Amino acid sequence: MMISPLQAKLLHQLVCIFKPCRVLEIGGFTGYSAIAMGSALSLSSPNAKLISLESNIEHIRLASCYVQKAKLSSVISFIAGSAEDSIEKLHEMQRGKHEMFDFIFLDANKNAYTNYFDLIMRYDLLSDNGIMIVDNVLHWGQVHKEAGYEEAANRQKISKNVRKVASKVHKFNKHVKEDPRVDVVILPLFDGLSIIRKKHVS
Ligand SMILES: C[S@@+](CC[C@H](N)C(=O)[O-])C[C@H]1O[C@@H](n2cnc3c(N)ncnc32)[C@H](O)[C@@H]1O
Repeated sequence: MMISPLQAKLLHQLVCIFKPCRVLEIGGFTGYSAIAMGSALSLSSPNAKLISLESNIEHIRLASCYVQKAKLSSVISFIAGSAEDSIEKLHEMQRGKHEMFDFIFLDANKNAYTNYFDLIMRYDLLSDNGIMIVDNVLHWGQVHKEAGYEEAANRQKISKNVRKVASKVHKFNKHVKEDPRVDVVILPLFDGLSIIRKKHVS
């Protein structure tokens, strides 16, 4: 379930380039992507922090071990619980302070991508010109078929579940593309990676 080494290198590179102060990850698993980003954060800014939202306690336990081994415990922290609830909590905690995230990595439940995106936008958690990276936006090479770019000839070979998720991810991609507050580009990297940039409104 982890991102590929190439994606990890890209995340690390992007964090080095953008030098975000606050990073939010949705979907921590074993901590691989958090460490890819967190190791760049620790190089660029001494006070920069990454918060990773993860629903599975066992995953957090394992990820915390790797984070400790990587000597990044002061940079990376995990919040246990469903990402939707944790985003609400973050919003409550930040009410008044309006601390936003400059860099958000979305990689939890693919069926819920639209919910995560909408919550982030509703609570204004992404800073102006901040970026959101989303993994699996071409889900198993099936999303472009949902979008009608390839005829349905081979579709029977694909499991119902993959098709169902691909349909949800396709709807998410359209939802983002049609949102005037952001610009998006989809890179055909590994399982597909979107770079979403919030437009600065002056
Ligand atoms: C694809 S894995 C993340 C991989 C990780 N980003 C990496 O590349 O190292 C997805 C993770 O999201 C977690 N997850 C699934 N649904 C979630 C939810 N609603 N809220 C928070 N975490 C969730 C899963 O437990 C799993 O650990």
